[in-house]
Amino acid sequence: EQIEKGGYDHFMLKEIHEQPKAIIDTYRGRMLADEGIIRMAGIDDNLPKFLNADRIIIVACGTSWHAGLVGEYLFEDMARIPVEVEYASEFRYRNPIITEKDVVIAISQSGETADTLAAIKLAKSKGAFVFGVCNVVGSSIARETHAGAYTHAGPEIGVASTKAFTTQITVLSLIALKLAKEKGTLSKAAFQTYLQTMQLIPAQVEKLLEIDEHVKNIASIYKDAKNCLYLGRGFNFPVALEGALKLKEISYIHAEGYPAAEMKHGPIALIDENMPVFVIATNKGHYEKVVSNIQEIKSRSGKIVAVVTEGDTTVKEIADHVIEIPDTEEAFTPLLTTIPLQLLSYHIAVMLGKNVDQPRNLAKSVTVE
Ligand code: AGP
Repeated sequence: EQIEKGGYDHFMLKEIHEQPKAIIDTYRGRMLADEGIIRMAGIDDNLPKFLNADRIIIVACGTSWHAGLVGEYLFEDMARIPVEVEYASEFRYRNPIITEKDVVIAISQSGETADTLAAIKLAKSKGAFVFGVCNVVGSSIARETHAGAYTHAGPEIGVASTKAFTTQITVLSLIALKLAKEKGTLSKAAFQTYLQTMQLIPAQVEKLLEIDEHVKNIASIYKDAKNCLYLGRGFNFPVALEGALKLKEISYIHAEGYPAAEMKHGPIALIDENMPVFVIATNKGHYEKVVSNIQEIKSRSGKIVAVVTEGDTTVKEIADHVIEIPDTEEAFTPLLTTIPLQLLSYHIAVMLGKNVDQPRNLAKSVTVE
């Protein structure tokens, strides 16, 4: 097992560090940036299904569901296709309205999640076209779907999903961009800029991994917190949910993820000097709004750890700690902002002596209801 961990203390840490390569492996051969082309057989062969779809319904569980939420922002923003994101477990039992004009995208690292598999069968029985985004080749979900695109993350052993999440977002970005190009909802120049920018992501993730010591230091300050809040807006709202899930599952610290603007509708009551709040405040999107959310936390003595864009000065003055990410397109920020949150959870769990790779009560793939 030591050999399999490749010199890392845990599979989770190894898998966090594998992300630059995993992202490249996922877009390699599909994204031809110089030629301005995205080639994905599963989409190319079924293009009319996607282009004529009334809507896309994304079904998934856990971290894969969070990737699906990022997908909603990507598809709606770039390709202007309405999207609904559903917990597979709710979808399958809700008597949902599904028609032949719907495209269902099922996302699953393992390809074996029972609820997601059942949601696929239901969607197929109603005549929808079902597309899978799986990591495990030949898995049940990969076989049950009409077509699909694999993430090429390589085996993910740690129960806490890391590289599966970022590669799922990579695949969803490619699909959104491809559909946007086909539909003409993005200008040629914007499409090209996205492709060039995506190519920079792996090196930027690599660079982010170098700030590990800084994140470890922040982890040591907040490791004894009983509750934590994660906030983000837009593309980074799902990252806030994912950051909270990562902390919960491996450190057993209670954490909640919220859209930052929802804070004043409830969670703000929790904020005091014992409450660390992790806020994603990159310079794109709704930056000023997030800054004002941060000010609200500060005025209630909350402790703020902010993930900001390199060179930020405004948030730096208010927050207790900042973690800088390199600049990128807003749509791609989740691929960067999620990295320090993974490292933070990892270090807190290690410091608390928890079983990082096999947290209590959890299975890597949930094959029963
Ligand atoms: C994430 O860290 C999880 N342990 C869990 O939420 C997982 O993402 C979920 O069970 C879905 O699994 P899948 O992607 O294999 O379908």
